[in-house]
Amino acid sequence: MKDQKKEAQPAEVELSAYEKAAQEGIDPRCIPQWLDGPVPEHDKIKYPDYPKTDQESWKYLYDRQMKFLPGRACNEYMDGTESLNLSNNKIPSLKDLSHVFYKMTGWKVARVPGLIQSQNFFELLRRKVFPSTDYIRGKDELDYTPAPDLFHDIFGHMPLLTNKAFASFYQKFGEAALNAEGKNRTKLETFHWFSVEFGLINNPEGRRIYGAGILSSLKEVQHSLSDQVKVRPFDPETIVTQEYDVWHLQPVLFAIDSFEQLEEGFYKWCKKSGLLN
Ligand SMILES: [Fe+2]
Repeated sequence: MKDQKKEAQPAEVELSAYEKAAQEGIDPRCIPQWLDGPVPEHDKIKYPDYPKTDQESWKYLYDRQMKFLPGRACNEYMDGTESLNLSNNKIPSLKDLSHVFYKMTGWKVARVPGLIQSQNFFELLRRKVFPSTDYIRGKDELDYTPAPDLFHDIFGHMPLLTNKAFASFYQKFGEAALNAEGKNRTKLETFHWFSVEFGLINNPEGRRIYGAGILSSLKEVQHSLSDQVKVRPFDPETIVTQEYDVWHLQPVLFAIDSFEQLEEGFYKWCKKSGLLN
């Protein structure tokens, strides 16, 4: 990975990766960036001076999504939104959220400029630091944005980081990913996709959603619990070989029975694969 870092940031290249991507027609926000130094964490994160339109976008997205989540999002996620005090009236402050995590699960938040390289991402997770953006999608992208933004990061991901078993799993994930190479890296990416981003859980009341990619997307929330989706039981060995397409609604998903099962199952699989001791 170090060699990739050298290639990604050679001093003699005039165009940045973003500029090159813009020339090639790829949305530059979808190209992971290397962090070239420490990013603000916890108390060091400043609250941006959001224009009124950004606050309106947060309210719109929050209200629209929350209307669908009771009875669909898992209990642990809904509890997390309360612990974090999420509401429609203001974009939350990353610093305040970080303080809640720190008390509940020992995690903190770091403010990152956009999509970051996986190595940077895993290093932060291993230290129990969740990287979050602090900008929100434009009004023209309220229905869909391919790039990360604070609505996905805060609304989608953060509530579950108040859950001890999930938070412990996610820290192990960062550690395992740093030890993984080649095929194991791909397998872990797949595991992340079908858990952190698109996971379902069997709550006592019925099947619910916990994946951030579903919870922050109107279409996925409506689709994921419908009979158009084939739901398979949690089995790490099956998950890591499941194919998926990031650009379409997901036809196959996996349901865990609890976050303890997710943590234990993941840990066992990592031990067997030589990724964790
Ligand atoms: Fe995500």
